[in-house]
Amino acid sequence: MSVPTFDIQRARYETPGVAHVRHFNNAGAALMPTPVLQATTTYLHREAEIGGYETADEYADVLAAGYVSAARLVNARPDEIAFVENATRGWDLLFYGLAATLRPGDRILTSRSEYVSNVIAFLQVAERTGARIEVIPCDETGQVDVAALVAMLDHRVKLVAITHVPTNGGLVNPAAAIGQVTRAAGVPFLLDACQSVGQLVVDVDHIGCDMLTTTGRKYLRGPRGTGFVYVRQQTMANLVPPFLDVHAATWVAADRYQVRSDARRFENWETNYAGKVGLIRAIDYALEWGMPAIETRVRALATTLRQALADIPGVTIQDLGIDPCGIVSFTHQRVTADAIMQHLAAQRINVTTSSPFGTRFAMEARQLPMVVRASVHYYNDDAEIAQLVGAVAELVHEKAS
Ligand SMILES: Cc1ncc(COP(=O)(O)O)c(C=O)c1O
Repeated sequence: MSVPTFDIQRARYETPGVAHVRHFNNAGAALMPTPVLQATTTYLHREAEIGGYETADEYADVLAAGYVSAARLVNARPDEIAFVENATRGWDLLFYGLAATLRPGDRILTSRSEYVSNVIAFLQVAERTGARIEVIPCDETGQVDVAALVAMLDHRVKLVAITHVPTNGGLVNPAAAIGQVTRAAGVPFLLDACQSVGQLVVDVDHIGCDMLTTTGRKYLRGPRGTGFVYVRQQTMANLVPPFLDVHAATWVAADRYQVRSDARRFENWETNYAGKVGLIRAIDYALEWGMPAIETRVRALATTLRQALADIPGVTIQDLGIDPCGIVSFTHQRVTADAIMQHLAAQRINVTTSSPFGTRFAMEARQLPMVVRASVHYYNDDAEIAQLVGAVAELVHEKAS
């Protein structure tokens, strides 16, 4: 198989932030590329020049094409896409819509690496409805154990909700294998793809999920406060958002309303149009690079980083799974994650830490304290990786002497 070449010079040229920082916080918010920045600011300027509604009219084609682009990115249909303000709000709209039908004793199956906000929503809904939340065990690699999932399925399971790539490390859960099982069982499958869309090839047909949520600012490199959801057409009819507005539904008679038939029933009438246009540009930009090429480069950089960090005495790589992705997590036996982050920040190297609070099921089961999270993107290069690794090595050496 030939390895696609990547025009790293162009990627860096189009990323103004690389002149200021070594950015390894792409799982937090990636550096925006120039085309995204320009699309967003040009839109805002236009609003100031001719008016907000008038600008939206002028951009009608761009806004409509955004659904086609987002659909292409995840291999869906444009009418299965809704733009939302972030991954959590999109996930909430889907989950609370589904939760309206839950009865006492119904079961929701989730992963050990589920994101904090999703679990808080599970707990609230369990309290309100009497439904039960159950965590699917992991296999020996730390991925969702698909055989265990099969054994847990019965007629009371009303949802399988999984995080594809967790916030705290490089684990990639076996989404397609889970999708095969949920499809066969006829159980809805909600995939939190917040950390995977934009760094990995994500194909809803191949995965077989019924719903997917993601955000704009992370691996897609869009503006903050943006995201989108996917809802399979067949799932739509039985899934009504917990709240509706004039965009999501039509007031057809004095005593009647009609919910729209496409995924835009999960959108708001009023929204941040400049952000939406920026996200659409970010999606097109990712498509221009090509997701297979992005995934290959991100994985290669992450492998280089993991190997170099693992050579530092006292460092343990904490990523689970068979084939970890661009999120690299590690600890040191004596130096705290916070001290490492501060030391790197002083040298303008951006990493972050993941606390047990973000993925409590996983971190408690593994008895992990805070970990350092260094998440690479395709615009990072080997020189930056060497600087990050050198700075960590310098700190731990200092502390040891
Ligand atoms: C796995 C996962 N899901 C959901 C979210 C929430 O995304 P947002 O902040 O866009 O709502 C995050 C954010 O870090 C995440 O890592």
